[in-house]
Amino acid sequence: MRRGSIVALLGLALIAGGVAAAVALVPTWLPEDASRQAGRIDFVFWFVIAICIFIFAIVAAVLIYAITHFRAREDDFEDGPPIHGHTGLEITWTVIPFVLVTSIAIVSAIVLSRNDAQAQDTLHVNVTAQQFAFTFNYPDAKNVTSPVLRLPEGRSVELYMRSLDVIHSVFVPQFRQKEDVVPGLVTQLHITPTRVGTFPLECTELCGLGHSLMRTQAIVMKPAAFDAWLKLQEKSAAPASPSTTSTSTTSTTASSSSSAAGLTVFNANGCSSCHTLSAAKATGKVGPDLDNLVAYAKQANQPLEAFVHDSIVNPNAYIQPGFPKNVMPQDFGHSLTKEQLDHLVTFLVQSAQAKKG
Ligand code: CUA
Repeated sequence: MRRGSIVALLGLALIAGGVAAAVALVPTWLPEDASRQAGRIDFVFWFVIAICIFIFAIVAAVLIYAITHFRAREDDFEDGPPIHGHTGLEITWTVIPFVLVTSIAIVSAIVLSRNDAQAQDTLHVNVTAQQFAFTFNYPDAKNVTSPVLRLPEGRSVELYMRSLDVIHSVFVPQFRQKEDVVPGLVTQLHITPTRVGTFPLECTELCGLGHSLMRTQAIVMKPAAFDAWLKLQEKSAAPASPSTTSTSTTSTTASSSSSAAGLTVFNANGCSSCHTLSAAKATGKVGPDLDNLVAYAKQANQPLEAFVHDSIVNPNAYIQPGFPKNVMPQDFGHSLTKEQLDHLVTFLVQSAQAKKG
């Protein structure tokens, strides 16, 4: 090979590699990182990108050189000279990819095992996914339940994730960690938040009509603020239970506290991601507008309370014109306790009547 060709090839490789590196480095491709795992994931990302730029530079240089130097003249119909393999070249282009792919596998395996390693005081959070909402439950704090994932900064957190219907996936871009939620399995995801702030938590598995609306927030708080929030939730969750005896539900005071408990059920189960209801400040558009329940019950020819109850327990019994069947989770009503169901019905009936009057 002539010295001139080597210099030309090297020059082309440097230019192609430089352009690719600029495209990779100048725009901000990744969101800010907010977890200890994010830095390691980013390392794998940049490690692979660097290998890609290296290979791209070689391929682009050889391609451009071949096009410009070995172009056939218009009247040249000859075949090239027959070439019969080149053992040295074949070994080279087998060994280099082998080394590169193996190094990616080793780096990834180390990062995965470090990212999954829990600390001693890991906080457990149970995640329930269903069409189309997430709920987060803190089993070590009297089962406090929240529609938003709140986490303390700097502490190792393990999510135990279950699905009530189809496959969903939990992803907070700033944490980088991502895992599917599969019916019949409990999948796990480990996160150590490192930055106080509010980040989007989204479903990243096409799971039905409301998939694009299946999003909530991950709020990372200072540990003291998180503990205070958890204490407050424990307290406000506690007094609800003694008031729900079967005899008191008919009196007006009990019914207003039942309605308040119904609002909690409404919020905790993500009803607002699909339905509009002004009493809950919900603006979902996937399902029927719950501010119109009185009119819907009339159309269905049923008393309001029975209509609301049946529509939760057996959503396909009456389908509001303009909305498809089978979108409302069929077993949602059965995932509630009888008390929760009663509270929810009371809340919906009262807010519909208030809206009407
Ligand atoms: Cu759940 Cu997409």
